[in-house]
Amino acid sequence: MPGRQGVQRAASDLRAELDDARRRTDALFDLVKPERLYDRPIPARHRIIFYLGHLEAFDWNLLREAAGCRPPWQPEYDRLFAFGIDPVGGGLPADRPEDWPAEHVVRNYGAAIRSELDAGIAKARRSPANGGPAEFSRLLNVAIEHRLMHEETLSYLLQQMPYDAKRRVAQPEVPEPPPFDPPRRDQGREPVERSQRSSLPSMVAIPGGAVTLGSSRALGRAEEETFAWDNEYESHGVHVEDFQIGRTMVTNAEYLRFVDAGGYENRAWWSGSAWKWKSAEGVRHPLFWRREDGRWLWRGMFEEFPLPLDWPVYVSHAEASAYARWAGMALPTEAQWQRAADGGEERAYPWGEEPPSPRRGNFDFARWDPVSVEAYPAGSSAFGVEGMLGNGWEWTSSVFAPFPGFAPFPFYPGYSADFFDGKHFTMKGGSSRTAARLLRRSFRNWFQPHYPYIYAGFRCTSD
Ligand code: AVJ
Ligand code: FE
Repeated sequence: MPGRQGVQRAASDLRAELDDARRRTDALFDLVKPERLYDRPIPARHRIIFYLGHLEAFDWNLLREAAGCRPPWQPEYDRLFAFGIDPVGGGLPADRPEDWPAEHVVRNYGAAIRSELDAGIAKARRSPANGGPAEFSRLLNVAIEHRLMHEETLSYLLQQMPYDAKRRVAQPEVPEPPPFDPPRRDQGREPVERSQRSSLPSMVAIPGGAVTLGSSRALGRAEEETFAWDNEYESHGVHVEDFQIGRTMVTNAEYLRFVDAGGYENRAWWSGSAWKWKSAEGVRHPLFWRREDGRWLWRGMFEEFPLPLDWPVYVSHAEASAYARWAGMALPTEAQWQRAADGGEERAYPWGEEPPSPRRGNFDFARWDPVSVEAYPAGSSAFGVEGMLGNGWEWTSSVFAPFPGFAPFPFYPGYSADFFDGKHFTMKGGSSRTAARLLRRSFRNWFQPHYPYIYAGFRCTSD
């Protein structure tokens, strides 16, 4: 059985991947000053302390039985930390800091679970309880990717904390900077509006044709079991007409023109619900910008500095859509985005079949911040569309919905299905805080249109 060996080899890699992911989430919590662990940096989300328990409770609830561990002994915490929140319709959580257990209690709970699970995983990898090695590998993949996604969640939560709530620590892992790391443009903080490459057209013509979305339940092209979440199935073909798409993501410089043109005060560019949201929240510019003494600053993770004009703008879906309408354009559909990335025929990554590496884009925790939208020509798609993976997720105009043949994972039925409510939009691509393994072609992310906290921007399309 050739497949079986593949799965078992994969299982030891999975063990190492889980350890890596744990090291990195541990480092993120260490960034928060202990007295600030009960802060709630984003009003609609849980306090930081929840996530400290959540990452461990999630693994425990998911793996305990399959790993043959002992029965739950703190079921109230298993439930308390089981799931995050994503309230639709404005209701905000009202819990108080004192409603949560003390830090040392949460840390002890997590440590106990980890050692139970680690012993169980070691045993289960030799002789899995039920479902066999492939099924156990799938659960490990879910645990790893769940934790990896929360590395990004935690990053953007911490981004919203005041600087005096954080300690600056070294990045856990910094890959070799790519040779053309935009000649230290980000470190020099000299805003560069137009690079030498600006003579290239800003829109790229994409010929219409077939595009395949999603992942196939049959064995992948590498002839080994490849993991994908429930919402990535089933693989299916879609046709798209000719269109044009931005060669790069929309930059801060370009978005500034919309702001300066009074875009936030002109009702015409906003949908009804977007206008209501914008007015109610008093939104007048991107969340990552701050105005001081007549100039714009970028609110970085550890400090503010003059707005880098050639970075992608990070905005909510509502703001991205308003800009696109003002510019006489639109956001790409999920299928258009994929067609632009594929370059005419299905490819694992925009640049081809080679796995992601630091020269291909700004992802896999290489940095906290974005870089120039033109920083990675080696990441371009065959059509010449740049920066599609990394440097900021990209909003699409497609409502997050199941593909034909969708079936929820029985061990985690709500992961995607809870969000097929017409109130979330699909995002593609990835940010500097997105793990390399989440850059696979079929991966889909989603958020509500009025959620401005994430590392997400957009590019425009026209007919
Ligand atoms: C897929 C990123 C939208 O953060 O809400 C984490 C991932 N789901 N725990 C989210 C997730 C449950 C999810 N996103
Ligand atoms: Fe979660």
